[in-house]
Amino acid sequence: MRHLLSIEDIEREDIERILGSAAFFGDVADRPIKKVPSFRGRLVINLFYEASTRTRSSFELAGKRLSADVLNVVSSGSSVEKGESLRDTVATLSAYGPDAIVIRSPHAGAPQLVARWSPAGVVNAGDGKHQHPTQALLDLYVLRQRIGELAGRSIWIVGDVLHSRVARSSAQAFMKLGAEVTFAGPPTLVPPELAALGCEVRHTLDGLGDADVVYALRLQHERMREAFLPSLAEYAACYQINSRRLKARQLLMHPGPVNRGVELSGDVIDGPQSLITEQVRAGIVVRMAVLVEVLSGSHADTPQVERLTPEPQLA
Ligand code: CP
Repeated sequence: MRHLLSIEDIEREDIERILGSAAFFGDVADRPIKKVPSFRGRLVINLFYEASTRTRSSFELAGKRLSADVLNVVSSGSSVEKGESLRDTVATLSAYGPDAIVIRSPHAGAPQLVARWSPAGVVNAGDGKHQHPTQALLDLYVLRQRIGELAGRSIWIVGDVLHSRVARSSAQAFMKLGAEVTFAGPPTLVPPELAALGCEVRHTLDGLGDADVVYALRLQHERMREAFLPSLAEYAACYQINSRRLKARQLLMHPGPVNRGVELSGDVIDGPQSLITEQVRAGIVVRMAVLVEVLSGSHADTPQVERLTPEPQLA
C-alpha cells in the first residue's frame, strides 16, 4: 500500500491484512520488549496541524516500536505560525528524506495534496470532516476482538455526525465488513442526506435497544459555525447515552476525547461495557500495522509482517 488516505480507497482484503498484522503486534505488545527491529533507519514524520492526544501519541509509539526514527512536527511553534504554506512545509520536511508522512489537518483533502507533493508514503491521521481511516481500522480491530465477525451486527452511531470524520470513515469500515449502521441524532447534526453513505438515519433513540454496539460521538464545538442545538442540557436529555439507555448486553464505543456528561454519562464511560480504553490501546498496534503497509509500499525490499521478528527477549 503506497498511502492510506481514506477507507473508501481500500478493499476488504487490505483491511483483513492490516487487522492480521495488528494482531501480530498485539502479541508483541504483551512481551517485555515491545519493539521489532525491521524498520531501523527509516524516517516517519508526524505532521499535525490540529490538536490530538491519542492519534499523535500512538503514531509516535507505533513508529518507535517499529524501530524507525520518528520526527514530530506540530503547527504550533513551527514556521507555520510565520505563514509557511502546507506545500512549502512538506517540501522542507521532504528534504529530510522521510519514508512516511503522517498528517492531521483541519482541511479535507490535505493528505491527498501531501501525497502529490512528497515522494513519501502518506497516512491520513484525520482531515477536517472528511476521513480518519486509522481510527476506523482500530475500531474494527477492537470490535473483531470482542464480538468476532461484524456481518449482520447492528451499530448505532449517535451524536454529531455532521462534523465527524470518524462517523464517515468508521461507518464505511463497519459496512465493508457487513455490519448495518444507523446514524442517530438531532436533524441539525444528522441531516437526511447522510443516508447516501448507505446508513439508516434516525432523529430519535427509539430502537437503540436493538443495537449490538452504541458508538457515541463528541459534539465538535470547534467546528460549529452556527447554533445547531437549543442547549447542551436539551441535547443530553434527548441523546445522551447513559445507564438508562444502554442495555446490559450492548457495547459502548467513543473515539475520544469525550465531553463527559454531555454525549456520555460518567457511569457508562467508566462502566464494564465501555471499549473506550481498548480503542486507545489498539491505536498503537493498528498504527504499527498501517506504517508497515506504507513503509513496505514505498520500498520493495522491506520485510512483510509475517517475516518481522521481535527483538530478542531478556530471560
Ligand atoms: N480519536 C482521536 O482522533 O483522538 P485525538 O484527537 O486525541 O487524536
